[in-house]
Amino acid sequence: MCGIVAYIGASTATPLLMEGLKRLEYRGYDSAGAAVLDPSGTLRVIKSAGRVLVLEERIQSEGGLDGVMGIAHTRWATHGEPNDANAHPHTDGKKGGHGIALVHNGIIENHRALKTYLEDRGHAFESDTDTEVLTHLVSELYDGDLEAAVQSALKEVTGAYAIAVICEKEPGVLVASRKGAPLMVGVGRDEYIVASDPSAIVAHTKQAVELDDGTVVRLTADTFRTTTVDNIPVTSKLMELEIDLEQIELGEFDHYMLKEIHEQPQAIRRSFRGRINAPEGRVVLGGVADYAQQLMKARRVVLLGQGTALHSAMVGKYIFEELARIPAEVDYASEFRYRNPIVEDGTVVIAISQSGETLDSLEAMREARQRGALTLGLVNVVGSTIARETDAGVYLRVGPEIGVASTKAFVGQLATITMLAAYVGRQRQLASQTVSELLDQLELLPDHIQGVIDQSEAIRDVTAKYITRENWLFLGRGFNFPVALEGALKLKEISYIHAEGMPAAEIKHGPIALIDDGMPVVFVATRNSQYEKVVSNIEEVRSRGGHVIAVATEGDDEIRNLCEDVFYVPDVPEVLQPMLTVVPLQLLAYHAAVLRGKDVDKPRNLAKSVTVE
Ligand code: G6P
Repeated sequence: MCGIVAYIGASTATPLLMEGLKRLEYRGYDSAGAAVLDPSGTLRVIKSAGRVLVLEERIQSEGGLDGVMGIAHTRWATHGEPNDANAHPHTDGKKGGHGIALVHNGIIENHRALKTYLEDRGHAFESDTDTEVLTHLVSELYDGDLEAAVQSALKEVTGAYAIAVICEKEPGVLVASRKGAPLMVGVGRDEYIVASDPSAIVAHTKQAVELDDGTVVRLTADTFRTTTVDNIPVTSKLMELEIDLEQIELGEFDHYMLKEIHEQPQAIRRSFRGRINAPEGRVVLGGVADYAQQLMKARRVVLLGQGTALHSAMVGKYIFEELARIPAEVDYASEFRYRNPIVEDGTVVIAISQSGETLDSLEAMREARQRGALTLGLVNVVGSTIARETDAGVYLRVGPEIGVASTKAFVGQLATITMLAAYVGRQRQLASQTVSELLDQLELLPDHIQGVIDQSEAIRDVTAKYITRENWLFLGRGFNFPVALEGALKLKEISYIHAEGMPAAEIKHGPIALIDDGMPVVFVATRNSQYEKVVSNIEEVRSRGGHVIAVATEGDDEIRNLCEDVFYVPDVPEVLQPMLTVVPLQLLAYHAAVLRGKDVDKPRNLAKSVTVE
């Protein structure tokens, strides 16, 4: 949700800023801008509605942006429509300003009150953004020391932010800060790159500092200082970034989403590595080992997430109850947080998040922790806020996910939940033989997933048959009910086709009225405890003219007679099925978006990492 990149050093800043913005574009892409101190010490700002490419063209047409320090931003609009004026960087105005420019990711909640205060003091505003208010506040408090002005301004602010600030009057100084939104500093030789995530840094250096919440950093080309807003020094730890450039490049693929679907077998292999021992029926999860006793005695598990992560949580409920025999419930993180949740002794709250930065999930986890729950994070991005603030956790280890529509993180989340539930279950009631058999099956999953990916072309052909249809239903039962939700979400978010997912049994209670001649209805109808019931639901849809597309178990020939189209997946235990059954639905959504000519990796109105509530 908005990407920030800033540079200070000896190289020309603009190419590096543009390259960084392109890598961060998944965080928002409705407008972009950059501010650079040019060699004469003048602040130059160029910004524009539209993608980073549009900004690049504008910079070129305006004769370039020369200078060795600058800040840049790609936006996902929160306050004010995505136009040139609302694009970042914002400045403190030509009249009476100090030449301050600022970029921001997050929301300044008390911006209205601050704006009134500033207007009373003569400040004039050009945009509708909360960010411009913060810029003017820094300006109002500026007295020759940018770092001090930023510290003072942030004391007045409520909300979430990651910011980078420069000032014409202090060439050679870059100040940045974060609270509730991610920001890190890449440390090169006599240069620093500040960015929302490592993808904008890793091409230049692998050394970085993850800023703690509430920290302000003051950088020159060769000095680094971190403090609190009260100017108390903070010691920051240098770390090695774990991602490689090739992991974040498209390679042979047309889209990141397709690349990430294809990476799923490898991704979950990495997730399993060193953690499962099938012959001994043992799961080893170092990240939760210190809490083994508490987990074993847990009375209730609450799984939280948003979007795709919520769907993982929903499958997780079934998995936890099945394997660990602990009552489990699921909630949208955003709902949990604000409904005065009951957290009794023995409650374990599991926050699931690819990015580890989704604000709703983060705040819900904080709330649970404050109420005394043991909090675990199932997170992909190493060092992200949820990962750092939970009591314990398990990393997904699926590698960077860049496509806005989550795919490999979903499968990774399910793999991780399965390992965690088997780990807890083994300490409670599961026999080692049972765990052993389950893990044997788990190890086969990467190959099974590959087999489904290999059907991509056939899936595209089926998708093409229905590509003009504007309404779809996705249905499943039990473990596969959340998969139906995920299939519908994938189709909606990248193809803009209206789709609904629900438990197959539920259609009789209303939604069946929607079915008319030729409506595509996707059933997850694999062989499992509810197979017969799903088949009855298929009959109900067929008799009303719906076109049924089924995801079925290999060898199930009967289902062919009932459905227009079938995608087959190998037979695996029910508890593991969602990791397989979701794959054809991911591919269906992908092909639908491509066939409709949509921008698969950057769907309209969305951003990958949602750091506002
Ligand atoms: C956004 C993305 C979704 C994602 C959700 C949760 O809405 O578009 O794909 O599932 O955020 O993100 P998280 O990083 O917490 O898993």
